[in-house]
Amino acid sequence: MRIAGDQVTLSDSDLSLDFLSVVEQAAIACAHTMGQGDRHKSDQVAVEAMRTCMDSVPIDGTIVIGEGERDEAPMLFIGERVGLGAKATDGKGVRFPKVDIAVDPLEGTNLCATGAPNAIAVLAASESGGLLHAPDLYMEKLVVGPSSKHAVSLDAPVADNLRAIARCLERDVNDLVVIVLDRPRHESLIEEIRATGARIRLIGDGDLSAGIAAAVVGSGVHAVMGTGGAPEGVLTAAAMRCLNGEIFARLVVRTPEDEARSHAMGITNLRKVYTSQDLASGQNIIFAATGVTDGALMKGVRFFGDGVRTHSLIMQSKPARIRFIDTIHVEQTRMVRVRF
Ligand code: FBP
Repeated sequence: MRIAGDQVTLSDSDLSLDFLSVVEQAAIACAHTMGQGDRHKSDQVAVEAMRTCMDSVPIDGTIVIGEGERDEAPMLFIGERVGLGAKATDGKGVRFPKVDIAVDPLEGTNLCATGAPNAIAVLAASESGGLLHAPDLYMEKLVVGPSSKHAVSLDAPVADNLRAIARCLERDVNDLVVIVLDRPRHESLIEEIRATGARIRLIGDGDLSAGIAAAVVGSGVHAVMGTGGAPEGVLTAAAMRCLNGEIFARLVVRTPEDEARSHAMGITNLRKVYTSQDLASGQNIIFAATGVTDGALMKGVRFFGDGVRTHSLIMQSKPARIRFIDTIHVEQTRMVRVRF
């Protein structure tokens, strides 16, 4: 690990495999609860596993998006210090890179609790200051892949955006698939999309997985539209930075309290349309996710007699690389039989 001046920076160390372990452990923990119908339990075990594993990572980390404020979240709360550096309080000895971390230990708590597809354990990391401190509000979102990112706008009519995406992908609007969260607030959005002839996949939860799929060629998903969580928006932005896709997003600020929470996080322009570069501005972005239940891009956790198998996606902006990692976690006490 190189020391720059008296600082160690994220670019000096490859933490991707450390963060891989963190999301793997969170996914394994909550996958045990799949289908048990207890979303809080599923979330709790994911948080505990992620928190425990995070403390072995050689960073001086701060949670910037997490389980909520300190008083409502016992672990992984916003502002919590994590990693080996959080324990080294004497100012001496080894220095660790300062890292901002956004976590969603279980994205899709209902999906896990009901055994539905696309639940993931996920985090994003950046050098300090590289991820927007987003309040836990809603965000209007439009997520598209690399080929159409210069042709759409959050404020354009839905039909115009879909025509532009179709043009960029050299196909008809009827051939497009748009993912939308199945919520009453999206009634008119759904009508507008249907009126164009585009196809829609309504999902119960998980607009982050959906956004990643929209940026991957061949996933059969061409856009995500609608309003979802702002923290998921920042995590999506981190993924877009690595995948060369784009998210356009705007906070939904409805009440004076929402306004105060946004101001408290340093957000002054409440109507700003953010891009992935605004939401995840870091030079060094790491995005790590492990499938909990089976999904479009990752398989869910599989348990078998000799161990556990996980499927993860690790992406970095620098060096720019995208890895799908299939891990068999072998129970040391037994003989493993590996099969495809
Ligand atoms: P959880 O993992 O916290 O359950 O969030 C799932 C999710 O569907 C997100 O993917 C999405 O951004 C958000 O909830 C939408 O919020 P709401 O369920 O309130 O519409």
